[in-house]
Amino acid sequence: MPRAQVIDIEEARNRDAEDAQYEKTLRRLSKASVDKHWEPYTDIPWDDPEFEIDPDDPRWILPELDPLGAHPWYLAQPEHVQARIGLWRQAQVCKVGMQFENVLKRGLLTYAFRLPNDSAEFRYVYHETIEEGHHGMMFQEFVNRSDSPVDGMPRAVRVMAEIVPPLSLVAPSLFFFWVLAGEEPIDYVQRRMLRDGSARHPLLNKIISIHVAEEARHISFARQFLRHRVPRMPGPQRFVLSLLVPPSMKLGVLLILTPPIAMARQFEIPEHVMRETYWGTEHSQNLISKTVANVRGLCSDIGLINPVSKQVWRLLNIWEDDGS
Ligand SMILES: [Fe+2]
Ligand SMILES: [Fe+2]
Repeated sequence: MPRAQVIDIEEARNRDAEDAQYEKTLRRLSKASVDKHWEPYTDIPWDDPEFEIDPDDPRWILPELDPLGAHPWYLAQPEHVQARIGLWRQAQVCKVGMQFENVLKRGLLTYAFRLPNDSAEFRYVYHETIEEGHHGMMFQEFVNRSDSPVDGMPRAVRVMAEIVPPLSLVAPSLFFFWVLAGEEPIDYVQRRMLRDGSARHPLLNKIISIHVAEEARHISFARQFLRHRVPRMPGPQRFVLSLLVPPSMKLGVLLILTPPIAMARQFEIPEHVMRETYWGTEHSQNLISKTVANVRGLCSDIGLINPVSKQVWRLLNIWEDDGS
């Protein structure tokens, strides 16, 4: 048999094995969604006095993890002002999370619409859509109860977000990188808050715990999807994708983690404080770089780091030389 044909057969076998493994993973994730899931109006005791929101409660004070929480101007404010800013900030993150997940759900449903019978992706995508539906209600309920007049994403971004759902059909790999661009920064910050005990209010702690547990599956799916798809893309398309990932990640992090100008106005935060905290210090730049570390690692694994894309990561200040 000619050598080229042997290689083709070998490659086809590897692909079949990889397809089977991918399907197995999706079925495992789907089963996990059935075995362990939460519903916001069943599993969160919103009306329990312990879960009530008092804007002056010092448990809302921002953790040091937040760039503003570590700034001397913030630390010099009276405790009740720190608490009110902290609550506003959590409500803003929830509002952006709800908006991001709304767009994500529409993209997932658009993607699932064309999937064939017996598709393992179809079932998992539906599980994820349902879970994100619960997260959206949970986040919006928190915003409502916090009584914070937050708008979430800037208006221009909300308008631009409308182009994302159809992208899941024409460029599914880019769509799933955008999914990670939104999910990874929220997940990184929420995990750190649980770990260092800075989600002190029981309501916030409960919301974050539920979210982190279910997001682990969503992030795992997006990563598996990309591992499965990207290495099979034609070289030129993969190259274009490699250049689009770093700006997508940076934009996602900035959108999720930067408070809008309305917060500065509401609490009379001086301009120089906002400039220094978001993102003028090494502490805050480090935070951005760390939130994208997992995706940077994924890109190395699936062939999306090349000399040109590496420069784009560097230019955006989100590259770390250990390649992670
Ligand atoms: Fe979510
Ligand atoms: Fe998610």
